[in-house]
Amino acid sequence: MAHTEPRNSLARTPNRRQWLQRASTTGIGFFAAGNMVASLGSSAFSHPTVAEQPFADETYASGKNVAASVHPLATEAAISMFRKGGNAIDAAIAAALTLSVVDSHNSGIGGGCLAIVRTANGQVLALDGREMAPKLAHRDMYLRNGKPDGTLSQDGPLAVATPGQLAALYDLSTKHGYLRWRDLFEPAIAHAEYGFQIDRVLAGRISGEADIIRRYPETARVLLKRNGSPYAQGELLLQPDLATTLTSIANEGIEWFYRGPFAKTVGEWMGQNGGILSADDFAAYQCKYREPIRSLYRGYDVIGMPPPSSGGVHIAQILNILQDFPLPELWKTDRNQAYHLLLEAMQLAFADRAYWLGDSDFVKVPRGLVDPTYARTLAQKISRSQKTRFATHHVPADAATNVFDDRKHTTHLTTADQLGNWVAITSTVNTSFGSKVIVPGTGVVLNNEMDDFSIAPNTPNAFGLVGSENNAIAPGKRPLSSMSPTLVLNDKKQPILSCGAAGGPKIITAVLRILTAVLDENLSVADAVAAPRVHHQWQPDEAVVEERLPDSVVADLKGRGHTTRSIAASAIAQAIQWTSDGNLHAASDPRVPSRAAAYEA
Ligand code: GLY
Repeated sequence: MAHTEPRNSLARTPNRRQWLQRASTTGIGFFAAGNMVASLGSSAFSHPTVAEQPFADETYASGKNVAASVHPLATEAAISMFRKGGNAIDAAIAAALTLSVVDSHNSGIGGGCLAIVRTANGQVLALDGREMAPKLAHRDMYLRNGKPDGTLSQDGPLAVATPGQLAALYDLSTKHGYLRWRDLFEPAIAHAEYGFQIDRVLAGRISGEADIIRRYPETARVLLKRNGSPYAQGELLLQPDLATTLTSIANEGIEWFYRGPFAKTVGEWMGQNGGILSADDFAAYQCKYREPIRSLYRGYDVIGMPPPSSGGVHIAQILNILQDFPLPELWKTDRNQAYHLLLEAMQLAFADRAYWLGDSDFVKVPRGLVDPTYARTLAQKISRSQKTRFATHHVPADAATNVFDDRKHTTHLTTADQLGNWVAITSTVNTSFGSKVIVPGTGVVLNNEMDDFSIAPNTPNAFGLVGSENNAIAPGKRPLSSMSPTLVLNDKKQPILSCGAAGGPKIITAVLRILTAVLDENLSVADAVAAPRVHHQWQPDEAVVEERLPDSVVADLKGRGHTTRSIAASAIAQAIQWTSDGNLHAASDPRVPSRAAAYEA
């Protein structure tokens, strides 16, 4: 079935409605408002809910203080912090903690995060709360009889890296938040203690992973029913152990987690169950502030996350390549060519990613990757009419010396306030429910971020991504990420857009699509998030297209030599835009039952 796309601002609203209607009738993932209200009503958490505010469309809201996340209860938690007098930083932290409880297949305190934060005084921070390999980790730890065994890096004790999200949230709270640390936990603890209604997405993830979850008795006890069957949509999930863990961290701070009972319990359990993560690894963990990547795209300052994210580097690189083409004009006159150019630029960037990218604290990642001159040489390799097969990566100037030297699954949330604080946090436990390990008594789902390392050269990880020696495992090293929290400033240095996504490597290409939709096509943020997406990650050599991309575009891409593969929905993105009337506009992704909301002080 062919679908039309937004072509100009007048067409935006009907097209977005069509997308939402289609999503709800095809099961792509849009919940009717009634379900969301039922979900909100299931909680014993007693603050006024966002459901009490009028919503024309749950995935879009505008006002002076806004939030968007993948889960209505997390967005509600953010709004409740604004209501208490908190700022966007408090709101984002409360939302992230709530996602630990209601969306633990995607992210949580057992995982990590990357964040781009703009504070009210104009400072822009790139905060790395990425997990770190344990000190006993080594390059060949997933080789068995000389062959890489991906099951070991994906499930079970050996897959777990030292969690980083809590350290990052705590640092943000103490330096930039208004509210007390313990206040930020109130919604999360309430949802863990009194339960929440399982939505369609979580029910699907639990049943999809049930066979693996059953291998880990504690995880099965927490996430499955007593008889071992998965919970259904609408049933209540209570997590008393997680409520106790969160209460301890709320009252005693992150020391309890990193240097206290939590680290000790996890370390002992790992030692008894074949893991290598130790209490010492927790004690050694530190979040890091890094120098954000800044690139100029058609007059806008695009700010992204440097390594260990690959997102900031490759979004800058792709935008630099696209700058050589008249994209704003092409979106009006030849959209097929615009999509083709996106795919070609993506291919070039992902070929470089596979070779060059890794934790810049350990390996040399050339700064030249984001150099506009290098992008121009790459742009010249692109044919505007035909797909090109790029056999390998390319080499930017001074690759050895000019390096970054700053020492389904996953979720993105974003908040902004009337003071000028903006937060874009992408968090993850990596794949669904991470390692599937919950250490008894803790309630915390532990990540499997070790699989984001290259466990062996040219061995694809869970996302089909390959990597080089640069992303090989080493103790204390951070695995390469695709998480791409991004902020855009206008020529007056005012923040005008933040965005980010979940979806492994499709994060990078979804963020790129939103950037070009807003900056080149002049779409509203809601339409930009809903706009059809294309994705190419070099290997495999295929153009992944969303089903709602018009058939005519897909046929045209095939005609140019692309092998296309159609998927229902690509990454899940959230974004906020500021418009010159002074309003903030939040959009959550209509591909899932997400929520955007606003609060007027
Ligand atoms: N775990 C997904 C990512 O960081 O890219």
